[in-house]
Amino acid sequence: MADVRRKQAMQPGMFFVAEDRDHVVGTVMAGYDGHRGWIHYLAVSDDHRGTGVGRALVEEAESALRALGCPKVQLQVRPDNSNVIGLYEHLGYAPYEAINMGKRLVVDD
Ligand SMILES: CC(C)(COP(=O)(O)OP(=O)(O)OC[C@H]1O[C@@H](n2cnc3c(N)ncnc32)[C@H](O)[C@@H]1OP(=O)(O)O)[C@@H](O)C(=O)NCCC(=O)NCCS
Repeated sequence: MADVRRKQAMQPGMFFVAEDRDHVVGTVMAGYDGHRGWIHYLAVSDDHRGTGVGRALVEEAESALRALGCPKVQLQVRPDNSNVIGLYEHLGYAPYEAINMGKRLVVDD
């Protein structure tokens, strides 16, 4: 929840949910740092997968990033998540070599 709270404080219009009869059935979070756009936390509920919700969420995030002038969107996927890798490749994403590095600045409870 801390991640959602932080997102609501920073570019809140870039946090998208898909709804079906008032129930959230999918989410995606996007952000633009002035250089690259990022997509995080794409997820669709089990009973709505395979119906186009994931594509709609990614395309909504892309179009919001494009509207901000973002030239390239990137994302991180765990190497063993072949399902989502397949989806992103299908939607035009290609892998590129890089080493991800991170440093935690705030330790969540
Ligand atoms: C990955 C996930 C979001 C896909 O959502 P979804 O709603 O089932 O995807 P869609 O039905 O919108 O599929 C979009 C397109 O991708 C294609 N696709 C989906 N999975 C694919 C795969 N593994 N390989 C190739 N194409 C794939 C679909 O056929 C569809 O094609 P079309 O639009 O041209 O007909 C969903 O399975 C999920 O929530 N997974 C668990 C969470 C997760 O791992 N998130 C990623 C965190 S990085």
